[in-house]
Amino acid sequence: MYEIGYKAPKEKHGRFAEDKNVQETFKKRCKLLFDLLGAVTNKKVLDLGAGACDYSIEFAKMGADVTAIDLSKDRMEFGLKQFPDVTVKCHESSMENLPVKDKFDIILIFNSFRYVENKEKVISEIKRVSRKGTKIILIEQNPTGAGRLKASKEEQQKWFKPVIFDKNFSKIYSTTYFNYHNKVPKKIIEVLNKFRLFGLFGNEYLCIYKVKE
Ligand SMILES: C[S@@+](CC[C@H](N)C(=O)[O-])C[C@H]1O[C@@H](n2cnc3c(N)ncnc32)[C@H](O)[C@@H]1O
Repeated sequence: MYEIGYKAPKEKHGRFAEDKNVQETFKKRCKLLFDLLGAVTNKKVLDLGAGACDYSIEFAKMGADVTAIDLSKDRMEFGLKQFPDVTVKCHESSMENLPVKDKFDIILIFNSFRYVENKEKVISEIKRVSRKGTKIILIEQNPTGAGRLKASKEEQQKWFKPVIFDKNFSKIYSTTYFNYHNKVPKKIIEVLNKFRLFGLFGNEYLCIYKVKE
């Protein structure tokens, strides 16, 4: 169902979306991320499947040293052109073969992991460019099919398995909080989080992993 190797067009969405809900979600995500991460000044950040660099730009504005990777250079440049004072290093590349040698403090994979054919390769690349304590932040569509997109059982397995069951990573935070239309009562979300049943109702979920110390 998802197009492997999907290369996004450069038209507006995310920060530049016409849909106010999407814009609001973007702002909420940024706030939550920076609340969770604390200061990111001088942190080395890698944004995988960066799209129009929406998040790369926010991290760079907060003083991080950001590298963005996407299959579409056009799309990264489209976003960066709106922020001429912000510096983000861009590479047109698949995240299956990262054109970098450095180690990063924070790695973002926002709504791009599902498009990759060889997910195990991405995980091994992430390990290569991580050090102990690196934080990996994954935002993905809800694979249980309750959201906008529905995934088959097979697709759910493909998304989850390589990330969640890898013993080298410990999950330090997870939530379902991106319910665009606030249909899910807060109480239910709290219960879901408590039992780690995230992703059942909201249409996106967020996990933060940390490479074990
Ligand atoms: C839905 S967009 C998300 C963009 C951005 N992360 C965000 O949240 O605004 C998915 C992005 O993943 C990129 N992508 C898909 N497969 C990729 C791959 N194998 N390597 C790098 N980027 C990829 C697409 O070009 C697209 O820009």
